[in-house]
Amino acid sequence: MQRIRKAVFPVAGLGTRFLPATKAVPKEMLTVVDRPVIQYVVDEAREAGIEHFIFVTGRNKAVIEDHFDIQFELNQTLAQRGKDDQLAKLQRLQPLAGQTSFTRQQEPLGLGHAVWCARELVGDEPFALLLPDMIMQSEKSCMKEMVELYGHTGGNVVAVQECDPSETHKYGIVGKGGDIHNGFRLTGMVEKPKQGTAPSNLYINGRYILQPEIFSILENQERGAGNEIQLTDGMLKLEKEQGFYGFHYQGRTFDCGSPEGFIEANVAFALARPDIAGKMAPVIAGLLDEAQAKSGGALRQSG
Ligand code: G1P
Repeated sequence: MQRIRKAVFPVAGLGTRFLPATKAVPKEMLTVVDRPVIQYVVDEAREAGIEHFIFVTGRNKAVIEDHFDIQFELNQTLAQRGKDDQLAKLQRLQPLAGQTSFTRQQEPLGLGHAVWCARELVGDEPFALLLPDMIMQSEKSCMKEMVELYGHTGGNVVAVQECDPSETHKYGIVGKGGDIHNGFRLTGMVEKPKQGTAPSNLYINGRYILQPEIFSILENQERGAGNEIQLTDGMLKLEKEQGFYGFHYQGRTFDCGSPEGFIEANVAFALARPDIAGKMAPVIAGLLDEAQAKSGGALRQSG
């Protein structure tokens, strides 16, 4: 069984739900507390043992490449000013020379197409795929647990979580078969099923381990939901030839592709930081009480 050494990050999305913030700044560079969203996802991959980070970018995304490069002037200034903590923080997160690759998705044809754009950089080996909109919070990272499951099952692994049955039309949804190690066999997948037709309420949360055969399937994949080339449709074909397993992630996932998920992530990560939580917890509680009083009690019921 081949080890998972490479991870793909599709970061070409326009971020229209965040306009005007994303007019000049990629949505992946918006910050949750003090790290850009993309940094959380790259750190998750690194924690899972990934050694090569492949970004599928698009126009106006060059700053992502800069973010993962060394900033000599900045490092020098921090060193001169004795800001050793900040310098150490930057150096800890710095990918080594040759550990990053960038390619472009030239047209917005869908997630399946974005993944296919990475085929030459991935080559003939299994790889991790992490969608940067989704960031996760748990003691052990989602991808790390998936790599462990993959060590037992081989094949392809998709992470899933439960969603409200009224939300299944927003995601890829899987069917659940028998248990295997800390996962289960998949019995099917469907991208954004119509209300009332989903096989379960287990949604694909944006973390995958895939075999390289997915690339030749995606090359000929016709358009699906939303008139886009869908990864889920490609996986469904691969499932006919290879094992597909689900990993039921128990941590928290924040959909930073929506303002609500992004704000929730900021609050949750701030409250998880010992250096910030003490100050912010009473501030957040106070703001909530104030808004609640102003709304005459309607606020808490409206969610
Ligand atoms: C994509 C996938 C979908 C998955 C979702 C998770 O959809 O196609 O299967 O559930 O990401 O965020 P998108 O969010 O690009 O519409």
